[in-house]
Amino acid sequence: MPRPIRKAVFPVAGLGTRFLPATKAVPKEMLPVVDQPVIQHVCDEAEEAGIEHFVFVTGRNKHVIEDHFDRQFELEETLKARGKTDVLEILEKYLPVPGHTSFTRQQVPLGLGHAVWCARQIIGDEPFALLLPDMLAHGKPGCLSQMIGTYNEFGGNVIAVEEVPMEDTSKYGIVEKGRAIDGAFEVTGMVEKPDPGTAPSNLMIMGRYILQPEIFDLLERQPRGKGGEIQLTDAMITLMDSQKFYGKRFDGRTYDCGSKTGFIAANVAFALEREDIAGGLRRELAGLLGC
Ligand code: UTP
Repeated sequence: MPRPIRKAVFPVAGLGTRFLPATKAVPKEMLPVVDQPVIQHVCDEAEEAGIEHFVFVTGRNKHVIEDHFDRQFELEETLKARGKTDVLEILEKYLPVPGHTSFTRQQVPLGLGHAVWCARQIIGDEPFALLLPDMLAHGKPGCLSQMIGTYNEFGGNVIAVEEVPMEDTSKYGIVEKGRAIDGAFEVTGMVEKPDPGTAPSNLMIMGRYILQPEIFDLLERQPRGKGGEIQLTDAMITLMDSQKFYGKRFDGRTYDCGSKTGFIAANVAFALEREDIAGGLRRELAGLLGC
């Protein structure tokens, strides 16, 4: 059995320019999908997969993320005084175990690879999960749980992938598919945002990774790549020379909550699963769509 995955990294230091002005003062990870911030949904996915320690790589203007995972005494006292025990229970349920969260700052947003490298001291010498909080993976079991199944069988590094239309491949990191193995496949190559017509497949890297700690040394030496940023994909390509990478097709649907359409679609999809609001929302949608 490979070493267990106990820690997960959540890089939340990006600027969120696609959501301005909404993200001028509020981090995009705190925008709600129904009644939970996006970051909470992603933490729930990690917790379901057995993650014990949650590592957030934050940046300027992101302190409310830290506040979200802490107690709010004034609010709790007021709710108690008003007898709102149901709401208090919800707040209690989402409170992390004391000592099970860490926050570190990426001082300059030099790219995803650099954000991951900023977590190296907290992760130490053990394999870890990496979840990009703006990608909401909607499925049961959750995406990370599905990946851990593959990891427990084969070890190494695991990347979750999802099919996209061939004409969209230039927007994402794309993997090259090798030999099929039980429920997954060997990754033989990858490329970050390939030029149109050059992608090795239509399988996009959807923002969920299980990585071995050797990635940190490579990130430390990684020169800037596409967009002048330190790219995680470039370091993973180097790691492929010495370690195995497996691709796991996510059985579910991913919503890119960093884009406006993806964010709104995620809200509708998650709301339609909620008994308390689905009926009303269906009627509203039918009215809006004229059907
Ligand atoms: P994005 O590419 O979506 O960038 O980052 P962004 O800055 O958040 O958003 P836009 O494009 O300006 O709207 C993917 C993930 O990597 C994190 C982001 O927070 C997001 O979760 N990230 C990106 C960092 O933590 N640091 C960086 O330097 C870049």
